[in-house]
Amino acid sequence: MTTFDLPTATIPTPAVPAPVSIGNGPDTIDRVSGRIAASDKAMINARADVNQLLPLKYHWAWEKYLAGCNNHWMPTEVSMQADISLWQQPPGPAGLTEAERTMLLRNLGFFATAESLVANNIVLAVYRQLTNPECRQFLLRQAFEEAVHTHTFQYICTSLGLDEGELFNMYREIPSITEKDAWALQYTQHLEDPGFRTGTPETDQAFLRDLIAFYVIFEGMWFYTGFAQILSLGRRNKMVGIAEQYQYILRDESIHLNFGIDVINSIKQENPHLWTAEFQAEVRDMLTTACKLEIAYGRETMATQMLGLNAAQCEQYMHFITNRRCAQIGLAPVHPATDNPFPWMSEMMDLKKEKNFFETRVTEYQTGGGLSWD
Ligand SMILES: [Fe+2]
Ligand SMILES: [Fe+2]
Repeated sequence: MTTFDLPTATIPTPAVPAPVSIGNGPDTIDRVSGRIAASDKAMINARADVNQLLPLKYHWAWEKYLAGCNNHWMPTEVSMQADISLWQQPPGPAGLTEAERTMLLRNLGFFATAESLVANNIVLAVYRQLTNPECRQFLLRQAFEEAVHTHTFQYICTSLGLDEGELFNMYREIPSITEKDAWALQYTQHLEDPGFRTGTPETDQAFLRDLIAFYVIFEGMWFYTGFAQILSLGRRNKMVGIAEQYQYILRDESIHLNFGIDVINSIKQENPHLWTAEFQAEVRDMLTTACKLEIAYGRETMATQMLGLNAAQCEQYMHFITNRRCAQIGLAPVHPATDNPFPWMSEMMDLKKEKNFFETRVTEYQTGGGLSWD
């Protein structure tokens, strides 16, 4: 008997169709209504089936999912040898200065737990409330990328032989890091309540606040001082492995940020009653506060000038970034117009200009589609 000849069980047809629980969102299989159209889909509070990816409505979400897949990387593919040699040098001309070592540790200390905070917000709060399958497809990819980013800090920690307790407790022990994380957590805590649901103006606005706090502020503002610091090291040929990993993280994060902005703007467009003058003023206050918290973090990580960076430039950079984020979600700027003091940052985001990633891989690597099954 081949497996094809196995007897099949007889499944009785229920006399009355019973609802079948399928998880969040619509929790029954609708056996009566017609097929869904793309126009039935919505970002939040949709009644269209969350399990039907096609027909696509938000093509931008699908495109970002594909871009994430095309950017796949793993931290262990980056050689840490030069970083280990430099880190083992005593502070001074041959190694990193004391100030550079402090900056690096506090930078790593922020990211080591920040990636997990972002991942938990996606899985426990955002995923449940976004009722669109193509956006959920992106979120599944993003959640994995955040795991890769957390893996990066585990890999750096073990490669350099850092004190893991010190690194992973900085978000509890370094005041400017604690302030940032505590501020963000207030926007996700009640959304993680299993009873929380969008559907009223108040809860829909609460969800928008969470999206703005995590996508626009956490990933879109608070990662950028850290990126500028590490990429400055890399530009001076210091800690080049970590700098390369940060370039890949920055590339991923720029897609996460742009996804978040598209989600926020789509929710605004579909629910204009939520974007009141009062709510806009509140969001501008959120960005203003977040900018101050980031400036304090810049000061605490860089007490002195180093690597061509100083705290005043980081402050100017954060004003520039904050105004840019305001414009991206349709708000008036919160600071006077200012130039970007780190124009080289935009070049660092375009990896193809720097090098071909695949030529630098240290291991043979094939995606699943490239494997042969003989
Ligand atoms: Fe990340
Ligand atoms: Fe991210």
